Amino acid sequence: MPSEQDPDRVPLRSQEWFGGSDINAAMHRSWMKNQGVPDRMFDGRPVIGICNTYSDLTPCNAHFRELTEQVKRGVLEAGGFPVEFPVMSLGETIVRPTTMLYRNLVSMEVEESIRANPVDGVVLLCGCDKTTPALLMGAASCDLPTIVVSGGPMLNGRWQGRTVGSGTSLFEMSEEVRAGRVTECEFRAAEGAMARSAGHCNTMGTASTMACMVETLGLALPGNAAIPAVDARRRLLANESGFRAVAMVREDVRMSRIVTRASFENAIKVNAAIGGSTNAVVHLLALAGRLEIDLELDDFDRAAKGVPLLVDLMPAGRFLMEDFHAAGGLPVVVKELGDILHTDALTVNGRTLGENSTDAVAWDCEVIRMVGEPLLPDARITVLRGNLAPSGAVIKPAAASPHLLRHTGPALVFEGMDDFRARIDDPDLPVDENTVLVLRHAGPRGFPGMPEVGNLPLPKKLLQAGVTDMVRVSDARMSGTAFGTVVLHVAPEAAAGGALAAVRDGDLVALDVTAGSLRLLVDAEEIDRRIAAAAPPLPPETGYASLYVQHVLQADRGADFDFLVGRRGAAVHGDNH
Ligand code: FES
Repeated sequence: MPSEQDPDRVPLRSQEWFGGSDINAAMHRSWMKNQGVPDRMFDGRPVIGICNTYSDLTPCNAHFRELTEQVKRGVLEAGGFPVEFPVMSLGETIVRPTTMLYRNLVSMEVEESIRANPVDGVVLLCGCDKTTPALLMGAASCDLPTIVVSGGPMLNGRWQGRTVGSGTSLFEMSEEVRAGRVTECEFRAAEGAMARSAGHCNTMGTASTMACMVETLGLALPGNAAIPAVDARRRLLANESGFRAVAMVREDVRMSRIVTRASFENAIKVNAAIGGSTNAVVHLLALAGRLEIDLELDDFDRAAKGVPLLVDLMPAGRFLMEDFHAAGGLPVVVKELGDILHTDALTVNGRTLGENSTDAVAWDCEVIRMVGEPLLPDARITVLRGNLAPSGAVIKPAAASPHLLRHTGPALVFEGMDDFRARIDDPDLPVDENTVLVLRHAGPRGFPGMPEVGNLPLPKKLLQAGVTDMVRVSDARMSGTAFGTVVLHVAPEAAAGGALAAVRDGDLVALDVTAGSLRLLVDAEEIDRRIAAAAPPLPPETGYASLYVQHVLQADRGADFDFLVGRRGAAVHGDNH
């Protein structure tokens, strides 16, 4: 390892701030000294930025102050200089109208914060759903050595003798309340049981999925995906990650050396094997765009074809993340998938994905199945195309009802969520279990922000009659903790001139997941006529939402901003005085 004085060592960008003796260098050091930072910290040692998404308003990340201290300790032990900086946090359960509206904004803040400051490498503290893709996207555009520490999932929830999972049980119980099978009092009592410790959602929702994606992409140390938030091993991992970040700077292991086309293919395959969230589709597409890696929606179908479902976690299965960790976690899945993956892909610890899983042991084959005994033989998120979604739509068959995967039914159309909420419990609603519920103006531009409303609650009168699932089609997303026969991310969305804008009540909508098709059984000329006559909601004229609507890409391109796609590097020119 080169010493800090070695002329052959990797030049550090932090020395552009802290090295030398001119007035700017003196100013940069002097003001840092008011925090008690001694002169030796400016001697050319790697400066590691710790990007922290702590917030009281992001409950899933509320333990990050403590985690940050562990990262700092690891950085110091390795001879680095840790500097923590906050970025906007996105609490999935709190932020209105939807965190997705702000994912790109946070990514921009992360990118500019990294570039503008004297950091040589970064540790990203991610947890709640959007904090992970936002931080990854921002860091990717700068392309410094980068390592991720996920916050870890909450402990398993238990209530009235049964396992309750974040989100999934909330959705189930909410429907039971509407159907009159659970009282509101019981529902309230269950709240505390569903979120019983620090950490992010304990189901295989979007946060857990993205933590698995991060580990599969090679951007986190082995075990990162599943160690519970309050487990001592989460702290150890944070410490080790800080320690490793220093070495990554010295070895100049940038994000683009770790994350390649092969690692994205690994992520897509692992997402199928774990029963991961459909939200991974938009986030991985956006991240690939930042890294200038050629990845498209159809790759999710192609790469994951025939990848079995191995992990039996809610919402598609029975168990929770604490069980997944106890069963061996992600390294077991990687080991079990074996040559299905590119096991030679590099990871942040300098070893390959395959090497990191060599010693993995499956401790519970109910939670993590072996390849020969999968829960489903083909668990990929299926990409649908057809005249209703020429640029694509997605469905997660593992969370759907098998009898609805091929279904043709009359549409019942809702013009956004306000319309939906106003009418869904109307006893005179013209609907039965064969109806296809269609929601439009819930896409990136139309809402704006593409909220997680695609898993539309079922009409009350059908719930009371015992109906448990219906085909639902929208340009929205859905929570990774949700389930049902739900077609999402329809592109182009209605507000961008998509055929979703042309659907009328009673039109037949045909879904065939095996054939990968989603069609509106209406004459093409009539569809064009209706689209031309459609009147999408007026876009916001000022403020951030206006910028968002003008620049957001469609779901099939990850819903990033057009002007943020690409890798701009970390070089910064000029000084402030
Ligand atoms: Fe934060 Fe689910 S609400 S991860």
